[in-house]
Amino acid sequence: MQSRRRPPAATERLAFAEMTADDLDDIAALLGDPGVMRYYPRPKDRAEALDWIRWNEGLYRREGFGLWVIRSRATGEFVGDCGLTPQEVDGVVDVEVGYHVRADLQGRGFATEAAAACRDHARELLGVDRLIAIIHPENIPSQRIAEKIGLRFERTTTSRSGDPVRVYAARLST
Ligand SMILES: CC(C)(COP(=O)(O)OP(=O)(O)OC[C@H]1O[C@@H](n2cnc3c(N)ncnc32)[C@H](O)[C@@H]1OP(=O)(O)O)[C@@H](O)C(=O)NCCC(=O)NCCS
Repeated sequence: MQSRRRPPAATERLAFAEMTADDLDDIAALLGDPGVMRYYPRPKDRAEALDWIRWNEGLYRREGFGLWVIRSRATGEFVGDCGLTPQEVDGVVDVEVGYHVRADLQGRGFATEAAAACRDHARELLGVDRLIAIIHPENIPSQRIAEKIGLRFERTTTSRSGDPVRVYAARLST
């Protein structure tokens, strides 16, 4: 398990790293932004942002993957997070690709670039067979990213909180 515990390789513009408590200011600002959290029940406060980091640290240890911090390679600036998490939908656990980008840096292709790298990492390093994205029906940017990295709309179902969600999926094995 530990041999495959590494972040995806850097892309043209972005570097990946495991998140730690040192990232708390950046993660709390990202997940505390009502715009970024528009499709979540509510923005996260600082304690919940630390829980988010701890959840991902646990995933790195147990699974060898999680959501990683993404930073600009040119400037080192924090851009957001992107990565892979196990998610249960209708009683089945699959690996989901997820992403959050700072509001002032959206619309530049960062999430698509990072998500494509996570898809390749899932296939090539982790041997993930099926990759999904669980997306709020009104979250069009996220649905575009899923499509652009090769996921296709599969079905609409109900989230654990009882809201409708769209499931996008792809087989990664050839
Ligand atoms: C979803 C999100 C990560 C996209 O990040 P991003 O870096 O702006 O994404 P990209 O620049 O790669 O663009 C992806 C698509 O979204 C579209 N898009 C980006 N910002 C948009 C905006 N403000 N309004 C409408 N469309 C937008 C882009 O046009 C692009 O689609 P296109 O190729 O058809 O033009 C970002 O909006 C975000 O953090 N949202 C809140 C968190 C979230 O919803 N995460 C996903 C949960 S499932």
